[in-house]
Amino acid sequence: MTDKKVALVTGAAGGIGTEVCRLFLENGYKVVATHRPGKEQQATNWLQEENLADKDIQLLALDVSDHNGVSEVLAETLRKLGHIDVLVNNAGITRDATFKKMTFQQWQEVMDTNLNSLFSVTQPIFNQMCEQGSGRIINISSVNGLKGQYGQVNYSAAKAGMIGFTKALAAEGARFGVCVNAVAPGYTATPMVTAIREDVLDSIKATIPLKRLATTEEVAGAVLYLAGEYGGYITGETLSVNGGLYMK
Ligand code: CAA
Repeated sequence: MTDKKVALVTGAAGGIGTEVCRLFLENGYKVVATHRPGKEQQATNWLQEENLADKDIQLLALDVSDHNGVSEVLAETLRKLGHIDVLVNNAGITRDATFKKMTFQQWQEVMDTNLNSLFSVTQPIFNQMCEQGSGRIINISSVNGLKGQYGQVNYSAAKAGMIGFTKALAAEGARFGVCVNAVAPGYTATPMVTAIREDVLDSIKATIPLKRLATTEEVAGAVLYLAGEYGGYITGETLSVNGGLYMK
């Protein structure tokens, strides 16, 4: 049991997740950082490489797309920790292809990891937050869930679904003091984005009014804001951090 606020971040190792962990640690939270089962060694290396190993951070193997596994692991984690105060649903994958060529497997994998995981991961933690009468849930959606993106029918559908989930759960959580919001990053300097073919990425960058990618710090800062004292009156909202790429 800890007196500190506990933040659980899914898909913590890499990109936006890493920066979210770092900012929470710098701001006095205890962090539970989830990674894929079977990747224990990589996760331990990640802590070393990011200079996080001596911080108040705990690794947790969690396959967010495995409903039964998630229920068991989170029940045990909640029993040990006593409380989780902030949940950041950050785990996400891409399986980009034009719709004509997209396989059902590419559709299903993105749905399972990016959207169905929200049910499995959030429900036990939301219930505990309601019992304690406070909590913040922040879902990492995407600009492409708002505007749609060529080659991402699966991803855009899942990320848009996260926004509907956010609004509906915010309506249910309010009476229990639980705020639920989404952050919709634009193209951010992460391995997921730098993996895009260079010519394609150049043409995307040209369409961004700020003419550059977001830094992971700029996205993580929005998450920290929604989790903290000054975010207390915001719920059901989607905060865009996209360099002007899409203005709602
Ligand atoms: N709008 C209209 N037409 C487009 C287009 C666009 N945005 N992008 C490509 N096209 C056209 C191309 O010009 C091409 O036309 P022609 O056949 O007439 O030449 C045709 O579509 C096929 O394009 P590709 O050559 O790119 O097709 P491909 O099968 O090789 O690749 C793809 C398809 C994998 C989807 C590739 O286009 C791609 O990687 N697109 C980027 C997808 C993207 O933005 N992913 C974001 C990943 S990062 C992320 O998701 C994080 C986040 O939240 C922002």
